[in-house]
Amino acid sequence: MTKSIRLDRFLANNVPDFSRALAQRAIRKGWVDVNGQPCRDPKQHVGPDDEVHLDDAPVAAVGQRYLMLNKPLGYVCTRRDRHHPSVYDLVPEAWREHLHIAGRLDVDTTGLVLLTTDGDWSHRITSPNHEKAKRYRVTLAEPLSEADAETLRNGVNLNNENAPTRPAELTQIDPTHCELAIREGKYHQVKRMFAAVGNKVVELHRHAIGPLHLNEELAEGTFRALSDEELALTVSQ
Ligand code: URA
Repeated sequence: MTKSIRLDRFLANNVPDFSRALAQRAIRKGWVDVNGQPCRDPKQHVGPDDEVHLDDAPVAAVGQRYLMLNKPLGYVCTRRDRHHPSVYDLVPEAWREHLHIAGRLDVDTTGLVLLTTDGDWSHRITSPNHEKAKRYRVTLAEPLSEADAETLRNGVNLNNENAPTRPAELTQIDPTHCELAIREGKYHQVKRMFAAVGNKVVELHRHAIGPLHLNEELAEGTFRALSDEELALTVSQ
């Protein structure tokens, strides 16, 4: 926390599962101390030098947030949509307005989505200049020939793009399943790449971005904070 903010907002931002309304209730009930004194005014401002306790436990200001989320099928990566739920619905309400997504997925794609409050970091993750490989498991409608696999590895021309796609890694698992790693993020890129060789993606799942791998234990629709080790890897690689 670099500037002062209202006590109810401070609690909603920094206590998991605390909404503004719950924070106000706790404050009014006298459960919150500021610098050792109970404070019953949700509008009171607290700054970096203030010590806040909730039920006698210290509440630390969380700096930037870095989350990995396992996106389920049917969720959109925009904040609101008329027909589908949003991945933002899957994170605590009080955190939503400050988070943005580093690399969106289509509504029918599943898997690893990164959310953060740190604009510089998300730029590093998504910018083609930083060359972070995005790894996908792809299920195809038609068997993929070795000739088409090679074309995709070398780069294909997509509709409405001037330059061919950058070299990609493609590992065939069986005739209709493969793993693809790309180092750029054009609109619907994976689907358009396979369409360019006359095939069709029927299932798409992202399992890694650079050094960050989706945990198999992270259930669909849930998220967790990145560890310090994972964050350090994204900076060094
Ligand atoms: N490429 C696609 O076509 N869709 C995604 O969701 C991600 C990459």
